Amino acid sequence: MTLAATGDLVAAAAAARSAVAAFNVITLEHVEAVIAGAESVGAPVVLQVSENAVKFRYGRLLPLARATVAAAERAAVPVALHLDHIQSDDLLRQAPGAGFSSVMYDAARLPYEENLAATHAAVDWAHAQGIWIEAELGRIGGKDGEPPPDPHAPGARTDPGEAAAFVADTGVDALAVAVGSTHAMTTRTAALDHGLLKRLSAALDVPLVLHGSSGLPDDELTAAVAGGIAKVNIGTALNAAMTGAIRSFLAEHPEAVDSRRYLGVGREAMTRTVARLVSVLRDGGGRTPAHGTP
Ligand code: G3H
Ligand code: ZN
Repeated sequence: MTLAATGDLVAAAAAARSAVAAFNVITLEHVEAVIAGAESVGAPVVLQVSENAVKFRYGRLLPLARATVAAAERAAVPVALHLDHIQSDDLLRQAPGAGFSSVMYDAARLPYEENLAATHAAVDWAHAQGIWIEAELGRIGGKDGEPPPDPHAPGARTDPGEAAAFVADTGVDALAVAVGSTHAMTTRTAALDHGLLKRLSAALDVPLVLHGSSGLPDDELTAAVAGGIAKVNIGTALNAAMTGAIRSFLAEHPEAVDSRRYLGVGREAMTRTVARLVSVLRDGGGRTPAHGTP
């Protein structure tokens, strides 16, 4: 199947009052697991490569990007590629040539006016290339080991009026909103501010994106989709599933040396996690096992 476009998948999800799952991939096993999991439930999916993943790959985008494109083109379900949490303009400019139909331009660390100016410039460039672009307003926090933001600190939550002005002034195609989730949680105990999400949904005419979704139980994910979230970013849940499965396997098989044995176990665990989360987002409801539990 040819590569899908993120904007099309998000628009279709929003029209169906559903959400498309967007998984962060680091290794080829992540890529294969996300595609296999989405295929097993017959749902489209977004594969995301973050700037941090590129840094891990010695700063090179293309090796992982080309493998991801090749895998996505052979998928039985629509798969789109997205560059995630991009702060580097150099990386932004590599997006179209590397097969990415969309980027998330992350200038949320900057004061409002600087975020607006940097995002505006990125949007102008991206749209000229036919790239769909997401930005962030508010502090979702938790990236790169930083502590979660104090929910009462100024700017820790996305303000609906400010968000409406930001979207109008920048021309972004989607907005990542800070409504109570935090990046890199390994427990599924976060609770969203659903009243704020409702106000944001009413104030904005672009799809809303949820980051830090690994920390949310199934019922919060379902409520987020009902509240207007159309793209759900998930990263840590895959790593928790992979690492947990490999840790158990190696404890049971201390003699193992063939990396295919433990990477295969890790890939299977991620595939199950993807299938379950994609089903929750598409169908709603469901139970909340710990990540990595089938
Ligand atoms: O952009 C990526 C996501 O926000 C991933 O967050 O690792 O907490 O699931 P997570
Ligand atoms: Zn994120």
